[in-house]
Amino acid sequence: MKVYIATDHAGFAVKEFVKKLFLNRGYVVEDLGPKDDSRVDYPDFAQKVAKKVAQNPGSQGVLICGTGIGMSIAANKIKGIRAAEVYDYYTAKMARAHNDANILCFGERVVGRGEIESIVEAWCTTEFEGGRHANRVKKIMALEQSK
Ligand code: RB5
Repeated sequence: MKVYIATDHAGFAVKEFVKKLFLNRGYVVEDLGPKDDSRVDYPDFAQKVAKKVAQNPGSQGVLICGTGIGMSIAANKIKGIRAAEVYDYYTAKMARAHNDANILCFGERVVGRGEIESIVEAWCTTEFEGGRHANRVKKIMALEQSK
């Protein structure tokens, strides 16, 4: 499984930690920046990851900013993206099981490293349930056509 990751300056401090969690689970991780914690604008990095995920079916993304909110709002502007802001094991699990989320977003200022480990565990071990959720996700994606 390929995972693209990016942060802004507020999420940069945990990027290597999160990369390692995915690498330890056998994921191929591509870091799309930034290279240091200089101030940047999160939409620039959200779109880098979102476009890669949209162009590479089956891949996933991880976006980390201060709150996770800006990254998720920006990533969801890209067609084909279901970016979910999560806070803990349960929300990460549901994002995959019910929403078939393809980008994981969280805030470095919101969750500690222990919680990040739980989030990544839930994300990596949970499959989309399909069934009744498949039609709902289809309806979400159909909204991309609405004006
Ligand atoms: C940066 O200060 C902060 O606004 C950003 O990381 C993020 O939390 C935005 O949603």
